[in-house]
Amino acid sequence: MKVGIFDSGMGGITVLKEFLKYHPDEQYIYVGDNKNLPYGTKSKSELLDLSSKIIEFLINEGVDIIFIACGTVSSNIYPELKEKYSIPIFNIIDTTVLQLKKDEIDNVAILATPATIKSHIFSNKLNNVKEVSCEAFVPLIEGIMDVKFKKLYIEQYLKDIKKQGIKNIVLGCTHYPLIEEDIINYLGNVNIYNMGTILASSIYLKPGKKSLDIYFTSNDNILNKKANVILDNNIKTKQIDL
Ligand code: DGL
Repeated sequence: MKVGIFDSGMGGITVLKEFLKYHPDEQYIYVGDNKNLPYGTKSKSELLDLSSKIIEFLINEGVDIIFIACGTVSSNIYPELKEKYSIPIFNIIDTTVLQLKKDEIDNVAILATPATIKSHIFSNKLNNVKEVSCEAFVPLIEGIMDVKFKKLYIEQYLKDIKKQGIKNIVLGCTHYPLIEEDIINYLGNVNIYNMGTILASSIYLKPGKKSLDIYFTSNDNILNKKANVILDNNIKTKQIDL
């Protein structure tokens, strides 16, 4: 199948990695809109505008199915996108909510962008949810903010979770697996829910030809290198203007 996956930038590459692991025999087209990130502080109409451009690009490329690898888009405008396009579109959050219900988790912390937290997508569907807006994480991960502030923000966002002894943590933004180690180092023994792993491991895709194209809306050598480090690959990322 031809599979389209998109995010605001590098975060969705963590989702792509899980898809490549669970479904290696597919034709993947990934779009990271890093020129316009962060998405986590944007309005619904801005998100709709940006996501529509990406979806229309993917449809033109002939994809059969689209996965939104962005928690912010998934939590804010998924119904609007489903309504607007006839192609099958799946979001990154629903399977994680189902998994939490299945695991009977009733005390969980959601780490996510301001827009995802504001949507209350998790607390509307689950009991005993502590929602933590981690605005600085995406700029830190994308290298827009100096990495020397990482420790400071980890402590600021996670100290209450540590104090309250919450042991189940949802990485509600797909950038956050890229600092999972820092999160675990600070919180100690916690159970991490990675939305990319949960989605990729719970769906069926018909195997076929194999290919991988990665587009960024602002591409350079550093991004190319970062994507390849995450994927443990050596492919040339490409630039698109949307
Ligand atoms: N990976 C996106 C998410 O899951 C990050 C959003 C952003 O660019 O702020 O929400």
